[in-house]
Amino acid sequence: MSARYYITTAISYSNGEPHMGHAYEAIATDALARFQRLSGKQVLFATGMDEHGQKINTIAQDKGLSPKQMVDALALRFQEMGKMLAVSNDVFIRTSEARHHKAVQHLWRLLEENGDIYEDFYSGWYAVREEEFYTEAELITNEAGEKTAPSGAPVEWVEEPSYFFRLSAYQQKLLDYYQSHPDFISPPGARAEIIGFVRGGLRDLSITRTSFDWGIPAPGKKGHIIYVWLDALINYLTAIGWPDDDRFWPANLHIIGKDITRFHAVYWPAFLLSAGLALPKRIYAHGFVLTASGEKMSKSLGNVVDPFSLAAHCGADQMRYFFLRETPFGEDGIYSEESIKRRVNSDLANDLGNLAQRCLTMTHRAFASTVPEAGAFAAEDKALLMQAEKLPVAFNAAMESIRPDRALALIFALVGETNRYFASQEPWRLAKTDPARQAAVLYLTLEVLRRLGIMLQPFIPRAAGRLLDYLGEPAGRRDFAHLDKKLAGGQSMPDFAPLFPRMEKTDSR
Ligand code: MSP
Repeated sequence: MSARYYITTAISYSNGEPHMGHAYEAIATDALARFQRLSGKQVLFATGMDEHGQKINTIAQDKGLSPKQMVDALALRFQEMGKMLAVSNDVFIRTSEARHHKAVQHLWRLLEENGDIYEDFYSGWYAVREEEFYTEAELITNEAGEKTAPSGAPVEWVEEPSYFFRLSAYQQKLLDYYQSHPDFISPPGARAEIIGFVRGGLRDLSITRTSFDWGIPAPGKKGHIIYVWLDALINYLTAIGWPDDDRFWPANLHIIGKDITRFHAVYWPAFLLSAGLALPKRIYAHGFVLTASGEKMSKSLGNVVDPFSLAAHCGADQMRYFFLRETPFGEDGIYSEESIKRRVNSDLANDLGNLAQRCLTMTHRAFASTVPEAGAFAAEDKALLMQAEKLPVAFNAAMESIRPDRALALIFALVGETNRYFASQEPWRLAKTDPARQAAVLYLTLEVLRRLGIMLQPFIPRAAGRLLDYLGEPAGRRDFAHLDKKLAGGQSMPDFAPLFPRMEKTDSR
């Protein structure tokens, strides 16, 4: 039985259309999930929607819709985006579903049984945009002289009866846990920030609201709705079928954006410790997709790029490639039309696309659409092959350390080497003078393309699949266990088409 691997994205707020920030997280998590599947793990990949809370309630009211009508429509849009981007999630979880209500109420009871819930009165600041409580000392004053959350989100004064979670009791336990599990929070900057925050002291957390009712009722606490972050975090348990089924717990990896690290690295482990459940193995906070002027792309700021029109313009695989390759994972990335065009044309259309096109064309012509027999390898063939055979070690290390950008840099270094090899061997000249040598060069290039195709599947699944189709590789020979099983000479190769068109002009917005 292969090892289980449970990976998640954050669940998106149902307060507007999906934008490029959501798409980025889905793409990156998908690449990591596909990598683990190809490595032979039994993967569960969950994503979904965060549908409760004051923000969604208010926005639905403003639109003249019931919250349920609004979230139903948006859940379809996010699922459509996933399909368009070839996101291979196994579960799509929505917090308004009955299975989630059940899990949340079950977890609530575990916290209560552990003595961590008590009744009191909340008076303090609340940022609806982030669904987060703030103390006076945490607020900043903006240029207009208004108090805001540190992110700039507006805050309002809230006074209401509330149940609290004894978060303060977990300060030392969390610090001990971070200490003994250095990989729990990544990248290192996020880890340092969280440790600093927890060292500064933890206040008990208000975990019910009474001023609206769009949420999950706290069991036995009339009029109290469970705080949307407690509700939302539990999605990671609901998605595996908890409490009936806990085989995929603990999660191996929660991929989240850096703005919500505190919820995942402080509140979530504290809730789990209180409930007596294991903690996720790793939380990775990625950076933001920024606009060309350096702003975070966000629905509330109204500066978003629509992933549907971007993909329609440049292709979904091309978009996946750009976002995964361009920015070191964990850092912010600036998106611009120029940069996407440059990447797609130079790496995909020129380097990889042309290499495949030239090699496939020549093989079809010279060898009647079959893979040539390898024959004897010359020194330069062996050198390229060795490089290709060494690649998986560094590639795996890059992916295991959640650096898809590095993994792609390694792959494209090999694409570059293969192009140099192909150009220097001039196989087009060998047809008449030395057909055996031509066969060897084309075979070797096809073999390297096969390896590249297998390793590219996590990032550009559709194009990589087509490349493997063109080599005649059957579906059962495409996982990493087959990397070392060489291409079979004499295998017939179907018709092919260019892998990537050149991008001429971007007018995606
Ligand atoms: N609903 C919460 C998460 C609950 S998880 C238990 C939330 N939703 S969100 O819709 O605002 O964001 C969903 C994810 O997308 C988060 O991880 C967030 O950081 C990420 N992004 C939202 N805008 C982003 C960018 N501009 N760039 C990259 N990712 C960003 O937070």
